[in-house]
Amino acid sequence: MSDRKPVIISEEQLEEQRQYIQQIRLMPDAPKSYHVVTYGCQMNAHDSEILAGMLRDMGMEEAADRESADFVLFNTCCVRDNAERRALGNVTWLKEVRKKNPRLMIGVCGCMIQQPGMAEKILKQYRFVDLAFGTANLYRLPELMLKALESEHAVVEVEEQNTIAEGLPVQRLRHDAAYITIMYGCDNYCTYCIVPYVRGRERSREMSAIVAEAEALRDSGVKEIMLLGQNVNSYGRGLSEPCSFAELLQMVEKIDGIERIRFMTSHPKDLSDDLIEAMKHSEKICRHLHLPLQSGSDRILSAMNRHYTSETYLELARKLRREMPDLSLTTDIIVGFPGETEEDFQQTLDVVRKVRYDSAFTFIYSKRSGTAAARMEDQVPDEVVHDRFDRLLKEVQKIGREETSRFEGQTLPVLVERVNREDDSLMTGRTSQNTVVHFPGDCSLIGQIVDVRLDSCKGFYYIGTMTGGNHAAG
Ligand code: 5AD
Ligand code: SF4
Repeated sequence: MSDRKPVIISEEQLEEQRQYIQQIRLMPDAPKSYHVVTYGCQMNAHDSEILAGMLRDMGMEEAADRESADFVLFNTCCVRDNAERRALGNVTWLKEVRKKNPRLMIGVCGCMIQQPGMAEKILKQYRFVDLAFGTANLYRLPELMLKALESEHAVVEVEEQNTIAEGLPVQRLRHDAAYITIMYGCDNYCTYCIVPYVRGRERSREMSAIVAEAEALRDSGVKEIMLLGQNVNSYGRGLSEPCSFAELLQMVEKIDGIERIRFMTSHPKDLSDDLIEAMKHSEKICRHLHLPLQSGSDRILSAMNRHYTSETYLELARKLRREMPDLSLTTDIIVGFPGETEEDFQQTLDVVRKVRYDSAFTFIYSKRSGTAAARMEDQVPDEVVHDRFDRLLKEVQKIGREETSRFEGQTLPVLVERVNREDDSLMTGRTSQNTVVHFPGDCSLIGQIVDVRLDSCKGFYYIGTMTGGNHAAG
């Protein structure tokens, strides 16, 4: 296990990487285009924006797809087995593309590479991979890229994961909303979860760095920011000037021009009254909370090492709804954790029926080697798990539809994101509750917050009508 203290990457180290970027720019046979393929969570999506930023600075253009790129980089996830299999399948498929384009370089990075034994596996079984590196080496992409360009052999690097690198270039996916990572890693060790092993110890960025990033985003026209961390409620532990997540939110709230603040993910055990108060009195913090339940059985919650019971969770949900009646609540639930009985599963359904989530991500338990749960006996047979999964999905979808429809007829501020993918006379945006709304409009509205009446609920989204112009703030 690595040391607790985070390692801040020094300005000299970052400068060294910038030098490598310049060297690559001057290399005639360096790739001219890139395509980053991202798996997994928002944290990975944001890491991909940083990877793309570095590749852009190396002089590469973004290619529309992986077939037309000179360099394809897979930013992988290993939270569940299927994410990992999909990534490896796609990496292998690319080997065929290289037969047509021998210049093609293939890179694999992210959580999957950070797992013990994976670097060796890549070297042995995936010999066509040119470059592989873990989450801790992200900032060293320029150096590793240069090495790969100069070498006949694969460059594979995995190191300790408790680094914080500030000031890396970013190629943002959206101009109206942006991710800011506020903390890295996780110390919770939920027994099913691989994240603490591949993302390292929990470490927070300095508040001043986060605020400066948010201000710079505001200056570039961003209206909404999403603060990211595996467990944002424990933000600030171990900082030179300790600061709570609620305090951080209040600082970000003060930034003029930032009109919406979202965050992800909250652990129920650490959700403080201060946070509820900060949300309740805020003009900018969105009325949406993602609060992973995982299971409604106290026995399973304890085996998962979650540090709450179904009753304390329900009490928290009740308090949140009481304080913010317009709040939308979403969750993550795992079925088929080792030892889960039908009775345990019924308790999960019971909590689902009581909380009435606006939507829920449901997962089949995936055994991750190295975690405590992987060593537990009593793994639940596949057919039992699938049956429970289907029943749970039906229930969360039924409730989700009913809850989503509660906004019908209301006029709510909507941040316009993009032109509708199927009908270009419609625009697509989201309410503060994160509900998707499509409404007639034109692309000049993108990036603005406008009033939209939610006319008809179509399950999980709305068709609406714009009733009011641009909100200058709020
Ligand atoms: N199997 C299934 N789901 C998992 N998650 C994390 N680890 C596993 C696993 N081994 C789910 C949890 C978490 C979400 C991001 O992924 O529900 O909240
Ligand atoms: Fe995994 Fe639990 Fe940490 Fe979330 S809080 S990343 S589920 S260990």
